[in-house]
Amino acid sequence: MWLGLSLLALLMVVVTVETVAVYKRSAEDLKYFHEPGNGDLTGHYDIRYFAEVVDYDTRLDTLKHMVRAWLQTTNREGIETWIAHGTLLGWWWNGEILPWDWDLDVQVHGDTLKLLGDNYNMTTHSYTSSDGKISREYLLDINPYSAERVRGNGMNIIDARWVDMRNGLYIDITGISETDPKDKPGTLFCKNLHAYQYEDIWPLINTTFEGEPALIPQNYEAILIEEYHTKALVATEYEGHRWNPKTKAWDVAPDVPTADHGGQKNKLREPMKYETVDPGGIIYNLFRLVYWWD
Ligand SMILES: *[C@@H]1O[C@H](CO)[C@@H](O)[C@H](O)[C@H]1NC(C)=O
Ligand SMILES: *[C@@H]1O[C@H](CO)[C@@H](O)[C@H](O)[C@H]1NC(C)=O
Repeated sequence: MWLGLSLLALLMVVVTVETVAVYKRSAEDLKYFHEPGNGDLTGHYDIRYFAEVVDYDTRLDTLKHMVRAWLQTTNREGIETWIAHGTLLGWWWNGEILPWDWDLDVQVHGDTLKLLGDNYNMTTHSYTSSDGKISREYLLDINPYSAERVRGNGMNIIDARWVDMRNGLYIDITGISETDPKDKPGTLFCKNLHAYQYEDIWPLINTTFEGEPALIPQNYEAILIEEYHTKALVATEYEGHRWNPKTKAWDVAPDVPTADHGGQKNKLREPMKYETVDPGGIIYNLFRLVYWWD
């Protein structure tokens, strides 16, 4: 009888594990871009090009050249794009990326996404740094779900990616579209439900970012305050870095604690996009549940 019960218990475990695995697979099948993990360390690499988590200097070097390459390419091709989210916050401080950022964000109009999907999907673009010392290639990959301008199951809120094929780090490219012209004319939403008025974005403002000509939204300050609150424009210590007012740069400061992602501490410059908006969707929630069981 004990043997029977043990077998039954074993069977139940096997069935449960199998069911979970199937749900997890089907949930993942709906997602276009894949990352090796979902935490800060491994959640910001494209799984196809990921070999290992890169060190601080490599990450910074990768991100800086990656965004220069994106700006050069889009300027050359006449593709309208502007800096967004944490990348825009970095611009606000000193025209550079925030050195603790894991990835970068740019936005485009929904019509531009269509243009990218029709003409640039899976294209690679070569880049040479201004000193001629660094040559790299980047992949522009457009999510087929980018044609759907509503959030859906929440697993395809990133519309396109600009990927460094050496290590998998990337820029997230998201589109904003007028998805509810009848009830909300002139309001543009990204798939993560950030809302912008047309006049918040256009006319775009010419600036430079990481030394390259770049565009930013018209009401950049209001956009930043709405997303990160005023504190993000004031606090000079964050994520192991301290603002140096003389050099106008973020210095590494080992005495400044890094984020405690479970608690409230150091929350202020965490983008709200993956946290405060309820992703919704039964499959997505199931997917998350299953993820926690791993
Ligand atoms: C881009 O190409 C990939 C690979 O062929 C494909 O899976 C994806 O659906 C394409 N995206 C668009 C927007 O057509
Ligand atoms: C930005 O400047 C370039 C030339 O420097 C100009 O052609 C372009 O129209 C400007 N864009 C905006 C949005 O002002």
